[in-house]
This record gives sequence, C-alpha cells and structure tokens, in this order.
Amino acid sequence: MVVKVERLDEVAVVTIDNPPVNSLNRAVRKRLWEIVGECDGDPAVRAVVLVGAGKLFVGGADITEFDRPVEPPLLPDLIARIETAAKPWIAAVRGAALGGGLEVALGCRFRVATAGARFALPEVNLGIIPGSGGTQRLPRLVGVATAVAVAAENASLDIVKATENGLVDRLVEEPLIDAAVAFAREALTRPLPEPVSARPIAAVDPAVLEEASTRIARTARMGQAPARVLEAIRYGIDEGFEAGMALERATFLELRASTEAAALRYLFFAERAALKPADLRGVEPLSLSRTGVVGGGTMGVGIAAALRNAGIAVRLVERDEPSLQRGMSALSAIFESAQRRGRLSAEEREARMAGVTGHVGYEALADCDLVIEAVFEDLDVKRAVFAELGSVCRPDAVLATNTSYIDPRQIAEGLPQPERFIGLHFFSPAQVMKLLEIVPTPETRQNVLATAVDLARRLSKMPVRSGICDGFIGNRIMRRYRADAEAMLREGVPLRDIDAAMRGFGYGMGPFEVQDLAGLDISFLHREAARARGEMIPDTPGDLLVRAGRKGQKTGGGWYDYETGDRTPKDSAEAARVIAPMVGPQRTMSSEAIVDRLLAAMAAEGQAILEEDIAASAADIDLVEVHGYGFPPRRGGPMFHAARQTK
Ligand code: NAI
Repeated sequence: MVVKVERLDEVAVVTIDNPPVNSLNRAVRKRLWEIVGECDGDPAVRAVVLVGAGKLFVGGADITEFDRPVEPPLLPDLIARIETAAKPWIAAVRGAALGGGLEVALGCRFRVATAGARFALPEVNLGIIPGSGGTQRLPRLVGVATAVAVAAENASLDIVKATENGLVDRLVEEPLIDAAVAFAREALTRPLPEPVSARPIAAVDPAVLEEASTRIARTARMGQAPARVLEAIRYGIDEGFEAGMALERATFLELRASTEAAALRYLFFAERAALKPADLRGVEPLSLSRTGVVGGGTMGVGIAAALRNAGIAVRLVERDEPSLQRGMSALSAIFESAQRRGRLSAEEREARMAGVTGHVGYEALADCDLVIEAVFEDLDVKRAVFAELGSVCRPDAVLATNTSYIDPRQIAEGLPQPERFIGLHFFSPAQVMKLLEIVPTPETRQNVLATAVDLARRLSKMPVRSGICDGFIGNRIMRRYRADAEAMLREGVPLRDIDAAMRGFGYGMGPFEVQDLAGLDISFLHREAARARGEMIPDTPGDLLVRAGRKGQKTGGGWYDYETGDRTPKDSAEAARVIAPMVGPQRTMSSEAIVDRLLAAMAAEGQAILEEDIAASAADIDLVEVHGYGFPPRRGGPMFHAARQTK
C-alpha cells in the first residue's frame, strides 16, 4: 500500500509511503483521492494529518510519468479536493517538501514542520513550471516576492524562513505525528482559517516584478520556464485564482511536451545514473580524509580549493619554495575572492586555509589516502613524480593523474600496485567546473573507481567515465568542434558570425571567444610537440596567430582585440591580416547552417567515441559537454540534439 491510514481518536493520520522519495505517482494520487472521501464520510474523523514515510515529506511528481499522457486523478484536482474537504487537512513535514509535495502542503489547511524541513519548487530545473497551484497558492500565503524567488528562481526556504513568512504554522519536534496530532486537536478548538486559494494576495510593488523579470531574462540558460512562472504569477494577481490556475495548467502542459523539458529530464536521469553507476553497486569506496596534490599551478590550486570546499584536508607539494609560495598565495586568493563575493565568511575562509599545508618534497604524503598529480604536461616529469609517490605513499593509497592528453597507462608504467592508479581529469577552474572525467586503466581496481565516483559526489561534481584516447571524451570532441569552426573560417565565413551563431544556440561564448579566454597557446604547444615527434600536422590559422604573439586575452588579443580590463571582443584588423593567407573570400552562412554544421561535427565525433567504447553511453557524452564545455542544458547535449534532429 503506497498510502496508509491510521486513526488516533478523532484524527486520521495518512502516510504516503512510496520510496524512494514518496513521489505523487498515479497510485498515490488515486488512493489519496479515495481517502479524502472516506474521511469526509466518517463522522468519527474530525481532522486529517498528512505525512511522508521516512526521511522526507514528498519529493515531487513522478518524473517517469512525464513522457506519457497525464492520467486522472490529476494533481491539481486532488489538491482542490483536499483544500475543500469537510475535515481540515494538516501537512506534517519532515525533510523536504518539493515541487508537487509543496503544492499538496499548500492545499492543506495548516502546515507544521520539524527543524530540518526545506521547501522548494524546482520545476524550472526540468524546463516546466509548477502545475498544481504552486504559482497561485504560494504568493497568497508568503507574498509575491518570496513566491517569485521560490517558483521562478529556484530559491529554497528553510524552516526559519518558512516559519517567518507564514508557510509553516508551527515548528514542531519529533515525534512528528504526535506533534501534528496535538496541533490538529488544538486547531479544532478554533475557527478554521480560509483555504489558501481564497486568501487575497498582499499588494506588491510593481518594481519587484520588474526587477525579477530583468534578472530572469539574464538566465537564458534555464530556458523559458522561469519567465513563464512569472507570467502565471502575474496573471493570478490580475485575474484571480481560478484564471491563474487555468493559465498555470495550460503552461505546464505546453512546457511538459517541449523539447526543452525533454532535454532537461534526460539530463536529470543521466546525472542520477552517473552518480550511481550500476556496475559499481555494492562496491565500497575507500575512505578519504587526507589528500595530497602535487603541483601548485592552475590546476593543482583549483583542485586543492575544491577539496577544501568539501572539508577534506590537503597537502600541497611543489618542486621548490618560490613555486610553493606562488601556489599557496593563489589558493588563498581563491578563498579571499569567495569571501569578497559573500560566499564565505571570514572564519570559513580561515578554516579553508587552515586545512592546507604546503611542502617541498614528498615525505608529507606518506599517510595520504589519495594523491592527485597536476604537474607539467610532460611524460618524463609525471613519471618521475609517480616514482616518488610509489616509494613514499602507503601501498593502498589511491594515486591519480590530472593529465589532459597523456596516456595514463604510460604514466603508471613501473608503479608498484598499479591497480590503485586512476586518471582524474578536472576542468579549469577546478573549484568551479562540475565535470570530472574519470579515466581508469585496464588495471584499476573497482573500489578505486568507486572511490573516484564517491570523491566526485563529495566535491559536488559530475563524474563521467572515459576510456583512454587522445583528449579523452571532452577534449577530443572539443578539438573536432574547433577544427570545424576553423574550417568554416577558412571557407570565408566571418568568425564573428560563427561565434554569434553558437551564442544564439545557447553557449555563453562562441568557439573563437572561448579560445581567446583560455589562451591559444595550449593547443598550439600540443600540436608543436606532435610536430617535433615527426607527425605531419599542417598549420592552422590559430598557429599563425600564436606565432604572431596573439595568444588571446592575456596578450591583449587573439582572434579578437581586447582593451585592457575589458573582455569584450573587438574585430581585429591585425588578426585578419595574420590569418589572411589561410582564409578564402568572404561569404555568408546562416546562423542555422553554422549551428547545424558544428553540432553535426560534435555528434559525429561522439558517435566515433561510442563505437570505440571510450564512452559508455550517449548520455555520458552529453554530460561531458553540458558540465565541462558550456553546452546549453536545455538542448540536452550534442547526442540528444542529433537524435532529435533525425526523428
Ligand atoms: P601549470 O604549469 O599551471 O602548473 C604545473 C605546476 O606543477 C607548476 O606550478 C610547477 O611548478 C609544478 N611542478 C612541476 N614539476 C613538479 C614536480 N616534480 N613536483 C611538484 N610540482 C611540480 O599547469 P596546469 O595548467 O595546472 O596543468 C597541470 C596538469 O593538469 C597538466 O597535466 C595539464 O595537462 C592538466 N590539465 C590542465 C588543464 C588546464 O586547463 N590548464 C585542464 C585539465 C588538466
């Protein structure tokens, strides 16, 4: 039974028990529908307490039902039935009341909750809007500004805020059911408050809505859902509850059927699967409390910051004192900037740094559970590091490399206990970027793999397993993307048009703008190294720019020119002159054609990656692009996009 009813004298206690998150699937809705009738018809019942079994109230709708037509009883109808029931319903919340869960609670006459409770409407993350009164009841209960923040901007309300703004009538202690029943008995001695839908909306300063509208317009990444939430809230204010409900429902159904929502749903399931890989079920990760990072450059410092943000102790090893000082200052600067932006308190910043020690020499790593190497991208340098680690570290310590391109099997050659070795490919800046490519060698043990996934989870990162190839999944697709962008450029398509087309598709920056930001020299040096090994790699327009000293923003210009302190790209006559020998006569190409071509290139490379078993699934490839390379989530990823195009 997914819903149970118990009687405590005149109070009926209704428990939703639908693991794992008590989602409101059809069976739950149907049973609740019947229970409302049963309680109304039973003269011995005077009030109803609604509670979720286990750790949370209700996690939301059942997302797996979203790809099918809606089946009655519909949630908005059920909530209306609860709201107009002859006996008052009291939502008793422990843990989270999310999405449809919060909407059900809003349909109850009262809400009580325990200390850890949290309330949110995360629908916009899935490209939809709340579809069961969230946009209409919430503003009536907590005011328009808070409702906009919760429903359109993904804010969640903790128990303190929820009690202050009237969402929760009483903060209660465990045992929750006893407390809720006591509250119900007390409530029965007084006249009942009006149902939420019948309450007026407190007057709102139009500026609040205008400001929200401006903020929302800037987060195009979330797709159209946030703006549509705002529209529904506004409509309810102007036209009343019933009209607001009708617009909300119509919008919900429209968005639910959109490609955008399908893409976000797809990513939601892909992310869940990536965080709990099926083949590692039952494999215990090793416990990590002391970690080491070797190399305090761009990546080492970012990785150390990510570890500290997760509360993990770090020992940072550099090759000499000046490099160590530079690394420690860079790390400190990351936390100082977080404090300036209000993300850390002064105490938190101090605690972050207190958990890191800097060292020259490897002895400090002797008792580490995990060491991540992030030294120069050079096989001999890396091998020398692992020779040291092999002799200093515990034999069961996990040893990882952050290499971008070097074959991890070569790095691990000669390492004692190679089964504890793994590639952990972070992305720059490592304390910010969500993606973590996990690259096992054929010898890597399962529990080391499980440890890597567990680490990603602790660092709030998205783990994706990659096989071994040049560039792994992400950089390999990136290279193809850039090569095709450069090919178009050489065919005479203006680079500004190419960048603008990709921005129009939803990327924050176009391919040439990104290169200017990251620096053109990295991939240039990679190609030069291959040329030095005798590989025949023809010059690219980017190579011409680097040779002319144009390495990107850091040198004042690359593909574009930049004024000091300004990241706005300006057309560059100088760059045009440098690359002119490789560029054909100017021609125009529509944005659509540009986007189609670059996405087709990415999908083709992705397909090859799948066929070579470098990625386990198309969804893994899409996770890499979305979490590591700025692919717009509402488009799902290059593989999702390609599959939709051919449908
Ligand atoms: P970097 O040049 O900024 O830093 C390397 C650091 O390693 C330097 O501070 C250097 O002093 C130190 N180092 C060199 N030899 C050492 C040794 N024997 N012992 C201790 N420290 C030593 O380089 P970056 O960009 O941080 O890259 C490091 C690694 O991360 C490379 O393998 C790179 O391919 C990889 N990577 C780089 C990314 C990026 O965007 N920069 C992204 C992902 C991976």
